[in-house]
Amino acid sequence: IEDSARVISRMTDIVMIRTFEQTKIERFAANSRVPVINGLTNEFHPCQILADIFTYIEHRGPIQGKTVAWIGDGNNMCNSYIHAAHQLGFHLKIACPYGFEPDPDLLAQYRHCATLVKTAEDAAAGAHLISTDVWTSMGFEAENEVRRAAFAKWCVSRPMMAAAKPEAIFMHCLPAHRGEEVEADVIDGPQSVVWDEAENRMHVQK
Ligand code: NVA
Repeated sequence: IEDSARVISRMTDIVMIRTFEQTKIERFAANSRVPVINGLTNEFHPCQILADIFTYIEHRGPIQGKTVAWIGDGNNMCNSYIHAAHQLGFHLKIACPYGFEPDPDLLAQYRHCATLVKTAEDAAAGAHLISTDVWTSMGFEAENEVRRAAFAKWCVSRPMMAAAKPEAIFMHCLPAHRGEEVEADVIDGPQSVVWDEAENRMHVQK
């Protein structure tokens, strides 16, 4: 990785990497002459969160002071939402099945802006934005069966959307599994902005 970084960064102006362990991208960046963007790791997914925030602002205005609900896996998306809550001044309520919570050190560091709650309904209550993701992220496919059992009741539903603010919107970084992490009538319903969110990956990355 170190040698690849030395060579590739002599030939390019900027490098964007999608990989698995965060340490790989950090080792690359430490030896790169040019900026390195995290295009997704197991631990973080900042490019998607930028697109999500832009989509929120486009639909509802500033996100500062708002409440965002993260429902499901305490994964790379969730971790980057924690960073965004800190940087942009919103409150993040996180609800995950037992054993799938975000890193406790991260939660402790950002406790001023991110709170772990017990149920998906607790997270949804009063939220301005509800976001979720697949039960099994890329690279975790071996855990698929265990995750299906643990997440069986973790599906963003219409009653959850009804518990949020009336003007709440729904996001999902896609691809989605209707009937697993989200009901079809939520992702295909009037509060869903997932197609704008998907398009905004392009605009934000530019
Ligand atoms: N958490 C998902 C995000 C995909 C855009 C994954 O890492 O697979």
